[in-house]
Amino acid sequence: MSQPQRYMVTSALPYANGPIHIGHLAGVYVPSDIYVRYLRLRGRDVLWVCGSDEHGVPIALKARQEGCSPQEVVDRYHELILKSFQDFGIQFDHYSRTSRPIHHQTASDFFLRLHHDGQFVEQSQQQYFDPEAGQFLADRLIKGTCPHCSNTQAYGDQCEKCGTTLDPTDLIDPKSSISGATPILKETRHWFLPLDRHEGFFRQWILEQNKDRWRANVLGQCKSWIEQGLKPRAVTRDQDWGVKVPLPEAQGKVLYVWFDAPIGYISATKEFTPDWEKYWTDPGTKLVHFIGKDNIVFHCIIFPAMLRAHGGFILPDNVPANEFLNLEGDKISTSRNWAVWLHEYLQDFPEDTHKDALRYALTASAPETKDNDFSWREFQARNNNELVANLGNFVNRAMILTHKYFDGKVPAAELGQAEREVLDQIPELRAQVEANLEAYRFRDAQFQMMNLARLGNKFLAESEPWKLAKTDMARVAAILNTCLQVMANLAILAEPFLPFGTAKLRQMLNWQPQDWEQAGAQELLPAGRPLGQAELLYTKIEDDKVQAQLDKLQRAKQANLLAQVQAPPAKEPVPFEDFAKLDLRVGTILEAARVPKAKKLLRLTIDTGLDKRTVVSGIAEHFEPESLPGQKVCLLLNLPPRPIRGIVSEGMILTAENPDGSLSLVQPGPTAATGALVK
Ligand code: MF3
Ligand code: ZN
Repeated sequence: MSQPQRYMVTSALPYANGPIHIGHLAGVYVPSDIYVRYLRLRGRDVLWVCGSDEHGVPIALKARQEGCSPQEVVDRYHELILKSFQDFGIQFDHYSRTSRPIHHQTASDFFLRLHHDGQFVEQSQQQYFDPEAGQFLADRLIKGTCPHCSNTQAYGDQCEKCGTTLDPTDLIDPKSSISGATPILKETRHWFLPLDRHEGFFRQWILEQNKDRWRANVLGQCKSWIEQGLKPRAVTRDQDWGVKVPLPEAQGKVLYVWFDAPIGYISATKEFTPDWEKYWTDPGTKLVHFIGKDNIVFHCIIFPAMLRAHGGFILPDNVPANEFLNLEGDKISTSRNWAVWLHEYLQDFPEDTHKDALRYALTASAPETKDNDFSWREFQARNNNELVANLGNFVNRAMILTHKYFDGKVPAAELGQAEREVLDQIPELRAQVEANLEAYRFRDAQFQMMNLARLGNKFLAESEPWKLAKTDMARVAAILNTCLQVMANLAILAEPFLPFGTAKLRQMLNWQPQDWEQAGAQELLPAGRPLGQAELLYTKIEDDKVQAQLDKLQRAKQANLLAQVQAPPAKEPVPFEDFAKLDLRVGTILEAARVPKAKKLLRLTIDTGLDKRTVVSGIAEHFEPESLPGQKVCLLLNLPPRPIRGIVSEGMILTAENPDGSLSLVQPGPTAATGALVK
C-alpha cells in the first residue's frame, strides 16, 4: 500500500476480570500507543480504539465464585483498567465496553446478517449438561481427572498440570463446578462458521500475499492452522452471560465471546463517531490489529472470515502480534500472582518520569520476535544508565550551561565543522526511527531515537564548553546552540516513546513543535529565544525500591509453593498403645558437626533431660552446623541404637519437609523444658 488515506488501529480488548500487567503492556498497549502517537505527530488520519471484553465463561465463573453478578465484576475491572491506562499515558481515541447496548446491537446484527446470507451451518451435538443446575456446561466449568497425568483438578478444555488440551468427555469422573453433580450428555444445536469455505482465500491472502509483509511468528501460526485444514467453528454457546443469539429458536444461547469481542472494535468506532464507516469499509483505510500471540488465529483467520462472510468490510493490513514477556525468568501468571500489575506499579512509582521508565524498559525488551524477559535489575539499569545518565544528563547540562552563560536564551552562533557533523546526522536518525516504526520494529526505533540522545550527550561531554568559557565564548555558543537543536529534535522524535519526559522537555525549551516533519531541521530554535527553567528530566531509581519489588515477588513465590502442597495420603490407623510406646521428648542440641565424607550427615550431641547422647541426622544439606547448638527439637528417643558411618546414633530428631524440598525442624514452643514428654 502506498501511503494510506487513513488508519484504523485496534488493540486487543482486555478481559475485564483482572487488572493489566506488564505482559499486556509490552505485548500490546505500549507498542500500539507508540505507533499511534507517531501517526498523530505525522498528522495522519488515525483512529485508535480499544475497550473491555466483558463476556466469556471466566467472567461468569468469577462472578459465581464471588457471589455477585457478572456485570458487577466487569464494572469493577473496567474502571480499574481504564484508569490505569489513562494514568500511564496510553491514549486511546476511544475505550468502550462490550456490555454496552450499541455493542449488543452491532454484534447481534452482524450475526443475523451472516445467518440470513447462509454463512453458517447448523449442527446438533452432544454436550455435558448439569442436571441439578439445569444448564449446559462450558468446558471450563467441568472438572475431573486427567486421563494423561491423573491430575484430579483438570478442566474440560485443558489439564493445567500436564498442559494437554482436552475434550470434556476425556475427563475421568467429570463433575460440574456449579453444583458438583455428575454431568450428563444432552443434545444441543449450534451455529458454526464454516472456515473450510474460506480456506482457499486464506492460503492466498496470508501465505502468498502477506508472506513477506507479516511477522514470521504470525505467519507461522497461520500456516500451521491452514495446513491442518480449516474446520467449522461454533459461534454460539449455551450460556446466559453474553450477547443473546437473536433468533427465536435460540433460547438460552449467547454468541461465543470470540465472535462478539472483535466486533467490539467496530461498535467502539461507531460509538465514537457517526462517520465510522469509512474506517471499516473504505479500501483507503489501513487496518492494524495489535495483539499478543495467543490472539493470532482469532485476528488473522476467524475475524477476517467473519468480515468476509459479512461483506463490505476491509481486512487487516497487518497484525503485529508479539510473543510473551516473562518476569524474572518465569512465565507471567495471574493465578500464581507472578506479575507486575500496572495499577500497583503506578502506586509504587507514581512520578511521571517513572512512567516513561517502564514504557522505555518494556520497549527495550519487547518480545517482538521471541519471548523476552523483564527483570527489575535491568529495568533499574535502563532507567539509571540510559534515561538518567544519558538523555536526562545531556538535557540538564545543556540547560544549565545556557542559563549560566547566555541568560537562558538560545545563543546566536556560527557553527563549525564539529557542530555541523552532529546536526548532519539527525536526518538519517529520523529516517531510521521512521522506517522502524512503519515496520512495527519498536525496539529498534527506540534505540535509534536514543542514539540521538547519545550523540548529543557525547558531543557535549567531549567538547567541554565549561572549559572553553574563559577563552572562546563564540565556540561555547556554537556548542550549546547545537545541543539545543538536538534537544528540539528529541522533543519530536522521543514523543511516541517517552511522552511524559518529552512534555517536560518541550516546557524546558519553551517550544512546541508543529509536527514530525520538522524533525531533522538544524535550526528549530532561533537565536535569542528564551528557554524555560532547567529541571531534572529523569530521576534515579534506588536499590531499595527495586529490592522491595523483588521481595514482593519472593513473597508471591512462597505463597504459591505453600498453596500448591498436596498432603500425602493418610496412613493406616494404629492402636493408641502403639503410639504410647514411642518415647518422644524435647531435646536441646548442644553440639553439631559435619560427619567427614558424608555430605548429608550431621553428628549432633543432644541433651535429652535424661542424658547427653549422640544422634546422627541426615540434615546436613539443610542446616549449617553453627546454627544448631541451643535449638530445641522434638526427639524420638527409644529407637534401637544404630551405627551410621561408624558412629552409634541413639535417636532421631523430627523434621517436616518444606514445599521447596528443604527441611524445617519440628520445634516445641519456647517455654517447653528439655526432657519434657511430647504426647
Ligand atoms: N480479551 C481477549 C484476550 O485478552 C482479547 C480480545 S480481542 C478481540 O485475550 F478482538 F476479541 F476483541
Ligand atoms: Zn494432565
